[in-house]
Amino acid sequence: MGKQSKEGKPFAVAADAVDPEKVPARQLRTGARIPAIGLGTFGSDRVPGEEIAAAVIGAAEVGYRHFDCAAVYGNEHLIGRSLKAVMDGGVRREDLWITSKLWNDKHGEADVVPACEKSLDDLQLDYLDLYLVHWPFPNFHPPHCDATSRSKDAKPYNHDEYMKTWRQMEKLVDRGLVKHIGTSNMTVPKLELVLRDARVKPAAEELELHPHFQQPAMFDFLVDKGIVPIGYSPIGSPARPDRDKTLDDTVDIEDPVIVRIASRLEVHPAVVCVKWAIQRGQIPIPMSTNRRNYLANIRAAVSAPLTKADMDEIAKIDKNCRLIKGHVFLWKDGQTWEALWDVDGKITPP
Ligand SMILES: NC(=O)c1ccc[n+]([C@@H]2O[C@H](COP(=O)([O-])OP(=O)(O)OC[C@H]3O[C@@H](n4cnc5c(N)ncnc54)[C@H](OP(=O)(O)O)[C@@H]3O)[C@@H](O)[C@H]2O)c1
Repeated sequence: MGKQSKEGKPFAVAADAVDPEKVPARQLRTGARIPAIGLGTFGSDRVPGEEIAAAVIGAAEVGYRHFDCAAVYGNEHLIGRSLKAVMDGGVRREDLWITSKLWNDKHGEADVVPACEKSLDDLQLDYLDLYLVHWPFPNFHPPHCDATSRSKDAKPYNHDEYMKTWRQMEKLVDRGLVKHIGTSNMTVPKLELVLRDARVKPAAEELELHPHFQQPAMFDFLVDKGIVPIGYSPIGSPARPDRDKTLDDTVDIEDPVIVRIASRLEVHPAVVCVKWAIQRGQIPIPMSTNRRNYLANIRAAVSAPLTKADMDEIAKIDKNCRLIKGHVFLWKDGQTWEALWDVDGKITPP
């Protein structure tokens, strides 16, 4: 039994917990190891922060040690209390992996360090294991907005500006406030420039990855460059915000291949998505506040692997179906969301 935290719910390792030491880990370019599954903490504008903060404790009790946070999720101050409870309950800081992200309105040179310090303060930590530039655009949107929302001075990707932000990210490493820095929602041509110009190379890239959106070229590029892929929306984000839903979207957990494997294994199709992700080599960060589900997801990391035939079949159901299209970050009237993703292999001109 862990002891009662001053902040509220006590932490206690659950009787049915997965042993965190048995959860596979991946090695980053520094040699550090990151657990091969993490808990997502974005409430998709639907799930209250308190519920997510409670899930952080519950997930730690069943064996999670990796938590994917971000300032824009608006809940880091609540998650900080949970992390304190977990550490008060006996989990060592060095056994946790905490990621946070710089929001798009904090790319300015004078804003990066204070934004990181605010996340550290909210999360009640002395350092982050990984700090990501959340999006490559300095464009932002209010919570609960719809897909037509635009920031009024929205801009395209500008590499010189991005590198000014990155220099500040490097400073965070120099100052010991973060152990690793990384990117999110990038493309191959943007990352090629960052790799060319960075003094501290990105250790990880967080990107959308699920069976219907496998991004094989980007995935191979990352592996080749020693950048660990962290896969968001690994289950196909069934409860994503309405602004991220379109009529053409497909549903991974209803795919006949996924459903067939799930029924053979007697698990929810979501678990097959998580298993596939870990076995393929990305780090899935499924979000759940439902104990049965987050326990099933971490069990997926330690139970018998999918067969080669399963993996081969899932490789064939890629539909190139991006769900988090990012409309709200577009910078020009009349553009379609593809402009954000450099689909012809070159950075979309301004
Ligand atoms: N870097 C970025 O720009 C970015 C963008 C999007 C997301 N993210 C990160 O990635 C995380 C995950 O992505 P996401 O939240 O969009 O989607 P997701 O993890 O694909 O899907 C989450 C949904 O799946 C359900 N679920 C989870 N496990 C399940 C299971 N075993 N059985 C049945 N249902 C299950 C959850 O419901 P219950 O709660 O009921 O279980 C929740 O509604 C986010 O929380 C965030 O940390 C990052």
